[in-house]
Amino acid sequence: MKREISGSVVRAFIFCLSAGVVLFLTVQPLQRRAVVPLPLPPPSPELVIRRGYASYEAYLRRQLNKTLDPRLRSIWTTRDWDRKIVVFAGFFSRLRSEGLLSNASSCLCIGARMGQEVAALRRIGVHDAVGIDLAPRPPLVLRGDFHAQPFDDARFDFEFSNVFDHALYPDRFVAEVERTLRPGGVCVLHVAIDRRGDKYSANDLFSLRPLHRLFRHSDLVHVRKVDGFGLDTEIVFRKRNNNQETAAATTYAPEINRNLL
Ligand SMILES: *[C@@H]1O[C@H](CO)[C@@H](O)[C@H](O)[C@H]1NC(C)=O
Ligand SMILES: *[C@@H]1O[C@H](CO)[C@@H](O)[C@H](O)[C@H]1NC(C)=O
Repeated sequence: MKREISGSVVRAFIFCLSAGVVLFLTVQPLQRRAVVPLPLPPPSPELVIRRGYASYEAYLRRQLNKTLDPRLRSIWTTRDWDRKIVVFAGFFSRLRSEGLLSNASSCLCIGARMGQEVAALRRIGVHDAVGIDLAPRPPLVLRGDFHAQPFDDARFDFEFSNVFDHALYPDRFVAEVERTLRPGGVCVLHVAIDRRGDKYSANDLFSLRPLHRLFRHSDLVHVRKVDGFGLDTEIVFRKRNNNQETAAATTYAPEINRNLL
């Protein structure tokens, strides 16, 4: 009897705690650097910004709607958790073997949601890794909007993201990556070229050319096909050194990869 009572007390306590956490995440105002809405960039046939966001707040609400969906969060933290870490660990190990990442690299995962990519970096021995997302999930993921990263300039050696399609302002997304990467730092993006994103995407990319153009202070390192949770292409840039005006020869871009651009 006593056991049953304490069992239900514990269950009630856990329920209140989880409800509290969800409520806290939902109502806590976003502490982010202000994003002053810009006019949408002129439409490009190869990088199309989706219409239908009445305001930046509406965009944020829609993004958070998926991120905070309790059913999805439960899948992401259980069934999906280790499966994704294993796949991410494979991508990162390969990049490390190519000299684009090292155990000592300071790493940021942009739009990391539950943080599997951060966990993958730490698992393979890259310990200085953190993620940002609109909804935080400490200790792996801090609160942050990729349109206005909450970090100082030249903070990271390596940045990874597979959410470029969620950027309402792709130029800001890239400018923030180039701002927070140190010179010589590496940015790895996984994007979908051959298929469309989901209903939460904010842009559709039809070729890598517009992306290449947005990285104005970086050189292309490589492009290759990957199989990354619906994303088919890995594109890697290295931020140029300040005094390096002309693009260095791209070390990892054999002709066949160039042809993907
Ligand atoms: C979030 O999504 C649900 C289900 O699609 C919808 O009913 C709800 O209105 C959405 N909320 C917001 C704030 O967009
Ligand atoms: C990096 O870390 C991994 C895992 O701890 C280790 O196996 C590997 O030897 C380390 N690499 C270097 C160069 O220290």
